[in-house]
Amino acid sequence: MKIIPCPSSPLLARRISETTGTEIADVTFKRFPDGELYVRVEGCREGVIVGSITTNDDLIAIAFLLDALDDARIVVPYMGYARQDRVFKEGEAVSIRVVANILERKAREIVTVNIHSKQAASHFRKLKDLDAMPVIGKHFSDRDVLMISPDKGSVERVKVAASHANCDWDYLEKTRIDEATVEIAPKNLDVEGRDVVIVDDIISTGGTVIEAAKKLYELGAKSVSATCVHAVLAGNAALRLFNAGIRDIIATDTIECAFSKISVAGIIGEAL
Ligand code: R5P
Repeated sequence: MKIIPCPSSPLLARRISETTGTEIADVTFKRFPDGELYVRVEGCREGVIVGSITTNDDLIAIAFLLDALDDARIVVPYMGYARQDRVFKEGEAVSIRVVANILERKAREIVTVNIHSKQAASHFRKLKDLDAMPVIGKHFSDRDVLMISPDKGSVERVKVAASHANCDWDYLEKTRIDEATVEIAPKNLDVEGRDVVIVDDIISTGGTVIEAAKKLYELGAKSVSATCVHAVLAGNAALRLFNAGIRDIIATDTIECAFSKISVAGIIGEAL
């Protein structure tokens, strides 16, 4: 059994190989002149494929690797397409169901980290969904911060992170004042003079964090940073976040980028 790294997760694959003491396989990814992808795994027929799905090519690479192997488990640290987890408008494809069918056709087990929703997870039969909030919390354990969830729906996540950081937590609540006015404010705690960390599962366009940060600064927060599991950071989201006064972006390595300051290799290694 070897670790089979995909182009989307080379560093995390290496870290998982180190924490589990599992060798990395010899894999070739090539592109033909017409753009088609080619993969080859040499010297092993069973392995653990490690690759996040942030692009269509990432999904194709995993599908090809599954075909090349006789027995495989897949680690998909960031499961893309999970936000289209149901039919919102008549005629739509349920994208994550298609992804689940492709992955589960041949894989023995699929391991992911904080999949977008329970509904997305429900399309899989062999999925193990890990929670990165404890490792995110531990990262902040030596700092005096206040963790805030940008909405009530994410409260369970911030609670777990804060319990491992041993810090205060709260969530932003929307209160309708009248037909035209909505007030957003932390439910219980005063943020004045505090170093606040907004905790979310995904930062994509950055819109959610930017709105929350605006409010927190208005209420007197000393600094506002953002932490998340999956730094999708679509387009120029990072720039927009910094322009909005976000002091730092701290993400895990489910999507490898400059903000991957926390590793999920340990929790994945334990789950394998
Ligand atoms: C929502 O369900 C998620 O928890 C995130 O808050 C959301 O995906 C963030 O997206 P964006 O960065 O585009 O506001």
